[in-house]
Amino acid sequence: MFIFNEDQNSHYYLHRQLDLGSFSYKIFLCIAIASIKMKNRKKNNTFAAMDIDKNYMNMCLQLAKQGIKDVSPNPMVGCVIVHKGEIIGQGYHQKYGEAHAEVNAINSVKAKSLLSNSTLYVNLEPCSHFGKTPPCSNLIIEHKIPKVVIGCIDTYSEVSGNGIKKLKDARVEVIIGVLERKSQELNKRFFNYHAKKRPYVILKWAKTQDGFIDVDRTDIEYLEKLKQETDLKNEEKPYNWITSNESKKLVHHWRTEVQAIMVGTNTAFNDDPQLTVRGINEANNPLRVILDLNLRLPDTLRVFNGSVPTIVLNYSKNEKRHNLEFIQINKEKDLVSEILNQLFELKVQSVLIEGGTKLLETFIESNLWDEARVFTGIKEFSKGLKAPILKQSPNTSLMFGEDHLDFFFND
Ligand SMILES: NC(=O)c1ccc[n+]([C@@H]2O[C@H](COP(=O)([O-])OP(=O)(O)OC[C@H]3O[C@@H](n4cnc5c(N)ncnc54)[C@H](OP(=O)(O)O)[C@@H]3O)[C@@H](O)[C@H]2O)c1
Repeated sequence: MFIFNEDQNSHYYLHRQLDLGSFSYKIFLCIAIASIKMKNRKKNNTFAAMDIDKNYMNMCLQLAKQGIKDVSPNPMVGCVIVHKGEIIGQGYHQKYGEAHAEVNAINSVKAKSLLSNSTLYVNLEPCSHFGKTPPCSNLIIEHKIPKVVIGCIDTYSEVSGNGIKKLKDARVEVIIGVLERKSQELNKRFFNYHAKKRPYVILKWAKTQDGFIDVDRTDIEYLEKLKQETDLKNEEKPYNWITSNESKKLVHHWRTEVQAIMVGTNTAFNDDPQLTVRGINEANNPLRVILDLNLRLPDTLRVFNGSVPTIVLNYSKNEKRHNLEFIQINKEKDLVSEILNQLFELKVQSVLIEGGTKLLETFIESNLWDEARVFTGIKEFSKGLKAPILKQSPNTSLMFGEDHLDFFFND
């Protein structure tokens, strides 16, 4: 019996099973080798095509990232149009309410006649509904683009699968799932927001070597000593500061990547933080969210200076002044769910919870958090307010400047 398989041993089998000198053997050998070569070529072509698709999808992802600051609450989307191996158009979603990536990419194509023989790559399923702009799937069909390669499906209820269905119904060839995980990862906050009806929650704190988040504020003598040891003129780094300058810069960068920053009542009062982005050019300030359930914070605090949109979640009033809004939450309901519901209503897709211990622990206990980023500095306080403790090992750890940085994911 002739055993035919694609690996190199197939030649060995051929030699074993047939008369090596016969003419029929030689013909057979030629056909078999040609067949193996064709199969291998087909396989190699498929792999090469997959690699090409991945390369263009990677370009889409890089383009998409350029929208990070301005597209929220929309997802980040990039698009590349390829004709016979040549990129003829590209674009990304630049600003919320403005043209989608597919529109910008199609508009950038000079010879529109080439579109009917091109492939469009996009990291997210093209939309199918009339939102702030007309549906992208309609535009693709109008321009008779015959093939669309998609990174991942849009799980947003108004789109989910409908964009793909529309394209397929119009006989467009659709390939789904090229660099799917990377595509999902890029817009994980957007997906999280629509799937869980709450923002993506990132907890962040810094602790000392001996596990404290703050000094002991009741021990006046010890506080005085600490203050004397610190450069009091350095407003940016008060006496209870734990981490290095590098880590501080990183936190400001993280602030540019979220839509809101939140702190607890005691943190707002004790530290008088500004909760703004500093040291990074052209960065947007996120919404400031202050928890002040019993309205005990003085309006002299810097978070109330009106420089940045700020909301105060509290138990007693709804009131709006320039850039400052008091929003009443229900005392009878679970606090974390109430906070997250309010942020969902405000279309906030990501929030960085910057402390203190009570607020962080309340989020940890509720299990309504997605990521935690924890710095451990080289300082020791020897006594003070204990930092929260997570009952899981970090997913990633690294050194940042002189600090240790742990990342935890709550999957
Ligand atoms: N190292 C760091 O990374 C870092 C970061 C931020 C803050 N901190 C330090 O942390 C200290 C404050 O921490 P903290 O634990 O005392 O206070 P906090 O978390 O900032 O605020 C807690 C306060 O919020 C209100 N609250 C009521 N119920 C709550 C609940 N279930 N969850 C959360 N908050 C609730 C309470 O105010 P009412 O009494 O008015 O009800 C409570 O006293 C500050 O002194 C600051 O220096 C350190």
